[in-house]
Amino acid sequence: MDEQQEVHKGLVGVYADTTAISKVMPETNSLTYRGYAVQDLAENCRFEEVVYLLWNGELPNRRQLAAFEKEERAERRITPRLRTVISTFPRRGHPMDAIRTAVSFLGLEDPETADNSPEATRRKALRLLAKIPTAIAAHHRIGHRLRVLSPRADRTFAENFFHMCFGKVPAPEVVKAFDVSLILYAEHSFNASTFTARTVASTEADIHAAVTAAIAALKGPLHGGANEAVMHMLQEIGSPERAHGWINDRLEHRALVMGFGHRVYKSGDSRVPTMTKYAEKMAAVVGDTRWMEISRILAAEMLEQKNIHPNLDFPAGPAYHLMGFEIPMFTPIFVAARLSGWAAHIFEQAADNRLIRPLSVYTGAAQRPVPSMRER
Ligand code: COA
Repeated sequence: MDEQQEVHKGLVGVYADTTAISKVMPETNSLTYRGYAVQDLAENCRFEEVVYLLWNGELPNRRQLAAFEKEERAERRITPRLRTVISTFPRRGHPMDAIRTAVSFLGLEDPETADNSPEATRRKALRLLAKIPTAIAAHHRIGHRLRVLSPRADRTFAENFFHMCFGKVPAPEVVKAFDVSLILYAEHSFNASTFTARTVASTEADIHAAVTAAIAALKGPLHGGANEAVMHMLQEIGSPERAHGWINDRLEHRALVMGFGHRVYKSGDSRVPTMTKYAEKMAAVVGDTRWMEISRILAAEMLEQKNIHPNLDFPAGPAYHLMGFEIPMFTPIFVAARLSGWAAHIFEQAADNRLIRPLSVYTGAAQRPVPSMRER
């Protein structure tokens, strides 16, 4: 292999393009969306404002926000046909597969699928933003043989999701914690699913194709699926008394501990303190502190023994559990949030597109003649 053929396995350290959407700064463990620190956005904005920011480069004023929300709220309904399709999905299927299939179906139904103009792509992004939560909630309700609930146009994005899943909107502090999680999950530069979305968009395929592929990438336990894996792990541990023994055993066997480590952040994920604060609040609201107690022990041991910090999925998993969501809903919620970042990157890719097509260094057999059947 000569110098020109140096392989960057996992594209570690490779700058694939420029972006003006978000900046991950591992030196200071910080993350900004369009220049604003993500923890400031989480404390001071609603998710809808952050989506507007990601898509337009600036935070909305009151009038712009009202117009954006009106458009989003008007698009929340899914067709009876999509509801019927969802009801035919195998019951044991994972909701991530269901939402991936539903988004693919939304592409078939969308009146502008074939129109890849920037204006049509933005309209399609808004429809996806509005309809994905409805499809997730419909799948959840159908799976539990419950009546599917129509979205409510008089509720915020976060409130409406609770309404569609559970038929009621919880206390404001629970809605705020959920909204914070959506903001923290919204965007994270060239992560695997976003890069997937950009790769598909670079072929000039439509936004539904790019988002379907991004959902497929997000499902994996090394990416979005980690928030579910974290809660399974906490449940397996069960009680704070068992946490030390459990983690020592894992580390002795050099096994992965889910919710820890990050490709870019090596000394802490900027989103973790904010999400942990809200997960602790959820524990206090629900009166169940066990999961956060276990979490504190795991985080301390991982830091002491491996110098590895938790990532956002670590506090998000127990936070969603405490909000009442069942574990297979966690990564679909991540989809509902990250759609905003994926769409921003699809717009950006299309605005200055070049087909994404890296090289590979061939290590297979040298060129040879095809032997006849008798010679094989
Ligand atoms: N548990 C235990 N050890 C871990 C670890 C974890 N969660 N994450 C990293 N490590 C160890 C690796 O085993 C490796 O050790 P080694 O050098 O002795 O082989 C070292 O830390 C470096 O990790 P590496 O796999 O090179 O990092 P990466 O950048 O390729 O991987 C992740 C990053 C996210 C894929 C990885 O940390 C991981 O699998 N985490 C768990 C899944 C998770 O939480 N994903 C969500 C990410 S936001």
